Order: sequence, then structure tokens, then C-alpha cells
Amino acid sequence: MKDSNKRENNLSHLAIIMDGNGRWSEKKGLPREDGHIGGVKSLRSLLGYIGELEIPYLTVFSFSTDNWKRPKSEISNLMNLLRKFIQTDLIELHMNNIKIRIIGNREGIPSDVVKLIESSELLTEDNNGLYLQIAFNYSGRDELVNSVKKIGSSIKAGDLDPHNINEDIISNNLFTAGVPDPDLLIRTGSEKRISNFLLWQLAYTEIYFEEALWPDFNKELLSEAIDDFHNRYRRFGRIEESLKK
Ligand code: FPP
Repeated sequence: MKDSNKRENNLSHLAIIMDGNGRWSEKKGLPREDGHIGGVKSLRSLLGYIGELEIPYLTVFSFSTDNWKRPKSEISNLMNLLRKFIQTDLIELHMNNIKIRIIGNREGIPSDVVKLIESSELLTEDNNGLYLQIAFNYSGRDELVNSVKKIGSSIKAGDLDPHNINEDIISNNLFTAGVPDPDLLIRTGSEKRISNFLLWQLAYTEIYFEEALWPDFNKELLSEAIDDFHNRYRRFGRIEESLKK
């Protein structure tokens, strides 16, 4: 039975901060690497379900520009995970009509990983199923700096009058250009912050904090988060009366 008070918000774009891999492995007395491997498994198993739910866009935070501060061995493990993920899963993702885009700064990423990234984007370019953005070597502030540089170049080239800068111009110069802002952000692992993720795009996003650590996050917990989202009262700065118009 449908709850008559239930709001059915449109969930077009889901974003996830997949946190808690390290704590998951520590709790089990395993090396941190195993937590990240568990994290990839969790992502892999949820992709099918997100596809079934017909959510058009998914963005996951996989490697932050701040993660370079971690021990070298962990950084190298995280690079290897992306390598392996692309090498092992790309064909299946492609068969499932998933379009892949890796968002973030390509500088600093090993050149073979950049090549894998480019080949995954090229192979899946024309797919029109789930649009999967993997944020890798990404931070929201870095993305904004990059956007300002691009806009500055357009001004210098005489293609843009600074008085004409507006929100669309900024959005269109972000790594996420052309993708709608997230409707729902889920962060697992019980921390309550957004950690430099999608700073511009999260302006009106509903945020859901989940206690479970990412490798333990599953279909049921995702379903609960989505149910909670559907019951949120989204106003985008307006009041009830103006929402009816
Ligand atoms: C946060 O856990 C997670 C990360 C820094 C990496 C997230 C990566 C994955 C889930 C796998 C990679 C995915 C792809 C697509 C290759 P943490 O290490 O900060 O955990 P902690 O807060 O418990 O220490």
C-alpha cells in the first residue's frame, strides 16, 4: 500500500562517498588493501541494482586529490584497483550499456592508467544506459580552480565577456559538464561531511548518512536510503505555494 504522505521525488542522479573500507578491514584484522577490494565488490554488486532501478546517473568518489597524502603503498593499491577494475569489468560494463566517465585531474595519474581511462571512455562513449562517473584524483575545489582557469582562457582569447559569466558557464566548465546535479548523496561509514566532493553540484542535493561501512553496503541499505529520499520535502529555496506553480 502506498503511503499517502509519501513524496515521489525524481531520482535522476545518485552520488556516493564510498567510505569505510579501511575501518572494515581493520575490524577484521585484514590489511587495508582488503577493505578496498571489498569496496570494489560492493560497487560491482550495486551497479546491477542501480541499473534495474533505472537511475540514469551515478557518481562515485574513488580517489580524492587528498588521498595522495596516504602511504605510498596504499596509493599504489588504489591505482591498481582502478587498473584491475577497468581491465576486469570494462567489457561487462559495456555489454550492460553503461557509459563510463572518469572525472578529476589527469595530471599525476600514471600514464598507463590514463590510457586505460581513455580507452574505457572511448569504448562506452555511445552507450545510453547508466551514466557512471568515477571521481578519481578528484576534489571539488580542484575542479572549481580548473573551471576558473578555463573561463579565464576564454576571456583572454576574447571569446567571453566577464560580465556574461553566469551559473551555466561555470557548470559547463566543470568535469561534470552536461550531467544534472545529484538529487541524492549517500555517504557510508558514519562520518558526516562532504569531504571536498562535488562542491558546486551539491547545492540542493539531499544528503543521507549511512552507518554501514562501504564494503557492507548492499541493495537493502540502498533501498532504505532511496525510500528516505522519496519522503524528503525538496523546496530548492522556494516555499510550498510557489512549488505548486
Ligand atoms: C574510503 O575508505 C575509500 C577510498 C579512499 C577509496 C574508495 C575506493 C573504492 C571503493 C574502490 C575503488 C573503486 C573503483 C571504481 C576502482 P577509507 O580508506 O577512507 O576508509 P576509512 O575511513 O575506514 O579509513
